Amino acid sequence: MVFAKLQETVGFLRTRTQIKPRVGIVLGSGLGAFVKEVTVEATIPFRDIPNFNAPTVEGHQGNLIFGTVGNNAVAILQGRNHYYEGHSMENVVFPTRTLALLGVETIVLTNSAGGFGETMQGGDFMIIEDHINLMGTNPLMGPNIKELGPRFPDMTEAYDRKLITKMEEIFHRHQVRYHKGVYCGVSGPTYETPAEVRYLKMIGGKAVGMSTVPEAIAANHLGLRVAALSCITNLAAGISRQKLSHDEVTQTAREVEQKFSTFLKEFVQEI
Ligand code: HPA
Repeated sequence: MVFAKLQETVGFLRTRTQIKPRVGIVLGSGLGAFVKEVTVEATIPFRDIPNFNAPTVEGHQGNLIFGTVGNNAVAILQGRNHYYEGHSMENVVFPTRTLALLGVETIVLTNSAGGFGETMQGGDFMIIEDHINLMGTNPLMGPNIKELGPRFPDMTEAYDRKLITKMEEIFHRHQVRYHKGVYCGVSGPTYETPAEVRYLKMIGGKAVGMSTVPEAIAANHLGLRVAALSCITNLAAGISRQKLSHDEVTQTAREVEQKFSTFLKEFVQEI
């Protein structure tokens, strides 16, 4: 059923572009401006794509963009579906699976997250080294789709080490503040309580957010190389006295947009 839907979607997209993307990119909240760095060949709104869902969150545009960055053909999801919007996990990971079936071998997942690592500040970046899935579910639950991958995927190196090293190299080159750490994926849509953030810290996390983990799981199932980057848009609840708001999150993401876009452009060109 899911596989047939994916084939329908891929068939449709192949009629809309000649590009054979090698790298897939998912742009998180407020990070859509990277598209300015891309030589765009086609922009297709999610609502026009069979089996895709239009996003409901502000700051998420909802386009699938095909183009090139340097010599690399890319497919970009400008916006994503979140579990908290009420989408099934199947729908949350559908676009990731679509990119894989279009031929993408590497996927770059980006997001906004609340940070609670030592020395973290709003506007910093965090390279995701590993994750803890606290969403209470898993996108691979249900019958395994054997055309996509195995029943019990290994997650020992869910985030590719070479890609992590490459990200570090680029941050050093530009002297941009960054951290490395474990991303805790929660369902939302509430932000965390301070007690929850203390718990996340205790279990080894450094950042928390409401996305990325389902896509990273689906991508590992598919055998893709995964890189993931958080923009720490705010300190997590209780770390500072300030209350959290989506406006603060999107505002900080906008402030680092240029740094983020430069980083991503170089990263895509060098992988
Ligand atoms: N918590 C969860 N998700 C987030 C946060 C946060 O503090 N900031 C941005 N996304």
